[in-house]
Amino acid sequence: MPHSLSVHQNILNHNQNHLLDNLCRLSLDQKNDYEQELFELDLVLLEELFSQTQNTAASTEGEITPLDFELALENPKYSQWLQKGEELIAQGAVGAFLVAGGQGSRLGFDGPKGIYSIDLPSQKSLFQLQAERLLNLEKRYGRPIPWCIMTSPLNHQATVDFFENHNFFGLNPGLVKFFPQSMIPALDVNGKILRSGPANLALVPDGNGGCFRALAQSGALDWFSSFGVEYVFLNSVDNALVKVCDPAFMGALALEDSLSASKVVSKANAQEKVGIFAYHNGNPMVIEYSDLDTQMREATQGDKLVYDGANIAVHAFSMKALRQLEAHPLPWHNAFKKVDFWDPQQGFVKPEAPNAWKFEQFLFDAFPLLGQMLAYGVLRNSEFAPVKNATGDDSPASARKLLGQLHRQWLQEAGGQINDALLYEIAPELSYGGENLNAEKIAAAMGQSILSFSG
Ligand code: UTP
Repeated sequence: MPHSLSVHQNILNHNQNHLLDNLCRLSLDQKNDYEQELFELDLVLLEELFSQTQNTAASTEGEITPLDFELALENPKYSQWLQKGEELIAQGAVGAFLVAGGQGSRLGFDGPKGIYSIDLPSQKSLFQLQAERLLNLEKRYGRPIPWCIMTSPLNHQATVDFFENHNFFGLNPGLVKFFPQSMIPALDVNGKILRSGPANLALVPDGNGGCFRALAQSGALDWFSSFGVEYVFLNSVDNALVKVCDPAFMGALALEDSLSASKVVSKANAQEKVGIFAYHNGNPMVIEYSDLDTQMREATQGDKLVYDGANIAVHAFSMKALRQLEAHPLPWHNAFKKVDFWDPQQGFVKPEAPNAWKFEQFLFDAFPLLGQMLAYGVLRNSEFAPVKNATGDDSPASARKLLGQLHRQWLQEAGGQINDALLYEIAPELSYGGENLNAEKIAAAMGQSILSFSG
């Protein structure tokens, strides 16, 4: 238990006096919890982050050049990569890491995004699709794959409960580890820490880049090591087509001896709202959609965009890289947003306009730090069905359609009878990436693993 006086002195030294103005009204337990929260604040960091918000100078000095990529499937080394990845999985050297601490505000779903169902015939959630793909690999290569799932304090319990209530979708619960990422306070326009109640700070998740710190601090990195994991697949929760622990991708990372690798797809069009990979002074980086100026965004060579390599948030890291990232903090980004708060004069306030600075780290900032990223080109229609918005582009409906189209294509290639009025869904139990299908199996599986419905 921190000493009250030293906690208070520290708060006063950093001009956050308002945080102490309500202490006498708190119960002893509330006061103790609140002081613990105050004790854990990194006030020096918060001061630094606030001063960054006052400095609006653009920070893209240096040379930006496009990142070229080729389709991995067309690379002469593809079959070696695949074989290597299969060996690694069979040896237990591959782990999976899912970052699922986001708030999914664009989707507007009240709960962890992973429990969301995009209304497939099976009604499987995003978590279930990923768990079953892992299970497919486990069965195929005879070795379970340890799986870390990063939540946030806001969705941790709901995530764990969901897995428990679904018996971990058949996975061994001892090989699934959940841990929450850290939170960071929001600051008002004067740099004062906001509160969400008389004895609580207004905290927000520290961004998906907090994953490297959380992985190390939670003990999950050591947990991976204890199983002999050498390479870690990392993905975001909201891609309905993600090939979790894709063997060829993991094999490429290992055989090319890179610290990290990322799947890259061609942009759908210049205006697609995705970040793109590029080089900054020769270092791999991701430029967010909003930071790419119109000229670069629309530049073409022949019929191709020059800045074409989209980031689909599917990455892989060697354990060596994850240890390096543990020791080198990522930069912070800020955004001025609406944050609900409490103060003694106004009580609880739900602002109608942006009122506060939020701070986040982005996991793609790992690439310039590492200085190495293997660009692994994939077909977007086979691997990218994002679920970001409630309707329109990148929505549950568009993701469902993309999955249906891909699975229909698998069936056609395997000689199955296609009914144009149906949406096909092939269970990961049967096929991970279109393999293991033939007309006989398809006929036998109809009504079981393959589900279909009209419309
Ligand atoms: P997004 O940047 O799309 O954010 O996350 P989001 O929270 O899911 O959705 P919006 O922006 O509020 O609509 C990409 C991935 O990073 C994870 C998300 O869970 C998702 O898998 N993430 C994001 C975290 O794990 N922690 C965070 O603090 C933010």
